[in-house]
Amino acid sequence: MWKYRELLPVEKEKCIVSLAEGGTGLHSCKRLGRKLGLKKLFVKNEGENPTGSFKDRGMTVAISKARELGKKKVLCASTGNTAASLAAYSARAGMECIVLMPEGKVAGGKMLQVIMHGAKLIQVRGDFDQALEVAMELADKRREFYLMNSINPFRLEGQKTLAFEILDGLERKVPDIVILPVGNGGNISAAWKGFSEFQQLKIVKNRPRMIGIQAEKAAPIARAVKSRQSRIRPIHNPQTIATAIRIGSPVNWPKVLGAIRESSGTAETVTDREILEAQNELATLEGIFVEPASAASIAGVKKLSEEGQVDPSETIVCVTTGHGLKDPSVLERLPKSQTGYNLEIIDGSLLEALERIV
Ligand code: F0G
Repeated sequence: MWKYRELLPVEKEKCIVSLAEGGTGLHSCKRLGRKLGLKKLFVKNEGENPTGSFKDRGMTVAISKARELGKKKVLCASTGNTAASLAAYSARAGMECIVLMPEGKVAGGKMLQVIMHGAKLIQVRGDFDQALEVAMELADKRREFYLMNSINPFRLEGQKTLAFEILDGLERKVPDIVILPVGNGGNISAAWKGFSEFQQLKIVKNRPRMIGIQAEKAAPIARAVKSRQSRIRPIHNPQTIATAIRIGSPVNWPKVLGAIRESSGTAETVTDREILEAQNELATLEGIFVEPASAASIAGVKKLSEEGQVDPSETIVCVTTGHGLKDPSVLERLPKSQTGYNLEIIDGSLLEALERIV
């Protein structure tokens, strides 16, 4: 993604800290599209980034900027992916890293990444919103800790390259709709900024409609959009199996509501059941394995299509934000028929028994 360097805020090339992020696949999904009645469905699979999520786009820029600014210690609150990404990039930059995560609510793969990269992991009794609050207080009081959450403007600058890549991937033909899962709201705001910059630079003429998807019990933004409110009302104790977007008080809400309004987009909610079903369909029909939060965008397009809110002939890009391997706990929720655990175990030499099963 550093090919877009002229549009990124890092001046000194020698300060760039990279793990070869960006350049993720934009997959035409014909089989899933057919099932959903959509002719031009694409998935931009951000799980293909080095630490397995879209966060790497923002992190490579923010860590590079931190290095340019002479920072030595970085800090974030996270539902897991920001932490995994920050842990990796700070290791690569030789910086000290502290991450705060909600106790017991972070997917196993993400915990492992944080520990493996040698970050200091602190679990917070409470949810992400509380973890972010205390992280902001610490960064305010102790200036040596540089806060790397998506309120850090350099993160969002990196994340906007998602939009550049979607446009370049479609040969500068602007999609009608871009659908993203929304948690703290950084990614959808950053993508909107990216689309707007290519328009300002006259690389493209128009911009897509932006649609944000949230989990039903963690949906302050979707609720505000649906009830035409100009502010969100935070949700206390948000709940969803999609732990990455289990956020009740998203800090970037003004930008998200702005992007949705300006783009004539919308927001929608999906249930945990719909999320798991969409995760499964994307994996079995297209070979793309994403974590539950990412599948929210697929569940969302399915719901909007069923409700007739999208035209079957429109070009639609769903962004899947994180890799499926991050959250193996999903295995416990798969229908028995699919896990294979109910198959007989056979002796390796018994071809006959094997043939009976297959
Ligand atoms: N999808 C995944 C896989 C995420 O990890 C996140 C956010 C989102 C979507 C939502 O993006 O916050 O920019 O609206 N994860 C953050 C974290 C909060 O700490 O890793 P957003």
